[in-house]
Amino acid sequence: MGNIFFAILCLLYIGVENVNAQVPKTYKNGIVVSAHPEASKAGLQILKAGGNAVDAAVAVQFALAVVLPSAGNIGGGGFLVYRSASGKTNTLDYREKAPGAASRNMYLDSNGNAITEKSLYGHLAAGVPGTVDGMINTHLKYGKLKWKQIMQPAIELAEKGFAITEAQAGELNKNRDAFEKYNPSGFALIKDELWNAGDQLIQPELAHTLKLIRDKDRAGFYEGETAALIISEMKRGGGLITKKDLAAYRSVWRKPIVGKYKDFKIITMPPPSSGGIALMQLLHSAEPFPVKRWGFNADSTVQLIVEAERRVYADRSVYLGDPDFYSVPQEQLLSLAYQMGRMRDFQWNRTSVSTDIKEGNITDRESEETTHYSIADSYGNSVSVTTTLNGAYGSKTAVKEAGFLLNNEMDDFSVKPGSPNMYGLIGGEANAIEPGKRMLSSMTPTIIERNGKLFMVVGTPGGSTIITSVFQTILNVIEFSKPIQEAVTVPRFHHQWLPDEVFLETDALTEKTKNILIQKGYKLTPRGPIGRVDAILKTNSGYQGGADPRGDDTSLGY
Ligand code: DON
Repeated sequence: MGNIFFAILCLLYIGVENVNAQVPKTYKNGIVVSAHPEASKAGLQILKAGGNAVDAAVAVQFALAVVLPSAGNIGGGGFLVYRSASGKTNTLDYREKAPGAASRNMYLDSNGNAITEKSLYGHLAAGVPGTVDGMINTHLKYGKLKWKQIMQPAIELAEKGFAITEAQAGELNKNRDAFEKYNPSGFALIKDELWNAGDQLIQPELAHTLKLIRDKDRAGFYEGETAALIISEMKRGGGLITKKDLAAYRSVWRKPIVGKYKDFKIITMPPPSSGGIALMQLLHSAEPFPVKRWGFNADSTVQLIVEAERRVYADRSVYLGDPDFYSVPQEQLLSLAYQMGRMRDFQWNRTSVSTDIKEGNITDRESEETTHYSIADSYGNSVSVTTTLNGAYGSKTAVKEAGFLLNNEMDDFSVKPGSPNMYGLIGGEANAIEPGKRMLSSMTPTIIERNGKLFMVVGTPGGSTIITSVFQTILNVIEFSKPIQEAVTVPRFHHQWLPDEVFLETDALTEKTKNILIQKGYKLTPRGPIGRVDAILKTNSGYQGGADPRGDDTSLGY
């Protein structure tokens, strides 16, 4: 009994958000919402030491690489959206790139059929990792504390170990066969017995690599010992990443997508994410309609959202790709008039059919495991970061002596035009494989302002469902006035053009609403959890966190 009382006191002391709390906890100084309690603690520690949101983001990114090996990473990539206290914005693209030896048909057999095993698992599935360069680049531009100080929490977590959660034990056990298939023995995530909740995960090889990065910056990963280990792993398994690819990798600052929804300013990720453009298209589709009056998940609300999603994902399949290789018709896709035109053929009395819906007519061509964290600091800066290995544990292939997993991001390319990838997404020429190109993403880290002030920070994993989850969470707050934790917790639904189905979380819709939609011809398909949204709301009295109860997500502040 005493122990339970003590545990409750501890939780209150460190400020863990109670997801059922009626009165949301508000933090005056700073907040970190991430997918793992230890990563949130690492970020909070850095904020309390006087670090800014960027310092905390770097600490959280490296901590997640240790405590959330299914998605947190140094062998993957991601996107960061930044807003300074004075309202300056920027985005960093540290997405992986196709190796120099990659080619358009590298995953096709002699009959031209896609061999998904190769784009999903093993060495050939990996793109050139971007995370380490991304973190160094972010810190150089906006960091306040010393690099060595912000890397320390992750090094300690890798060296001393941490207790894995119940969900993690289950995931590690489920992936054991794959780890054994793609790795030699001795990899830290393979244990003789099954994993149990509370087991310590100690990763000395990863700690060593993190120390190299701490002491040598870029050269600790893209050159020297770590680079040599990556190359020898590529040789062992027939992968393509070379010394030259590693040396050449650079993350890129890109101009954010900035759009308007009512009196809110949306700051979000540009290509090579499809997320920012698609999110703006969805918001533009909803804006003229009285969704507030219709209500949360009411049949008209769901129908409007589904019809908007159908059209937006059809556009995504044709017009979105790496802007360094393909001229994305960004201006037109982002215009309100274009989107209203796209919604014109939609009828209330029946469903549209995806095979009848093609991409829009662009006339004036301009030349399920990821993780998200949201952070805001006492100075008023905020960051929204989504980072990934793509699938859970990426390619399932580790650079064993360096202690980290390689991504399977190559599957995000359109491996064969018209063939769906692991998220059922279809792509074409814009997202075809080319050497040095970045694969199209759905990751949608977003920051929202109102009246020139920070209003919300939001993002999520979930593959193709990322865009719709971010969209729905924003509507939950802006239109349905839900407190941030509730906005994150309530059930979601998803449509992505093809397959022509509305995917529903349990209890997303009432029986009555389902029947109305079925009568109009919609195909409703139940599915497991959609996304893990981690968000922040800024109120007049401080920051409030929304940590997704679908995972081990945790909101900590002070
Ligand atoms: O970049 C993308 O869109 C995907 N690689 C994200 C993968 C993902 O979210 C998986 N998580 N559940």
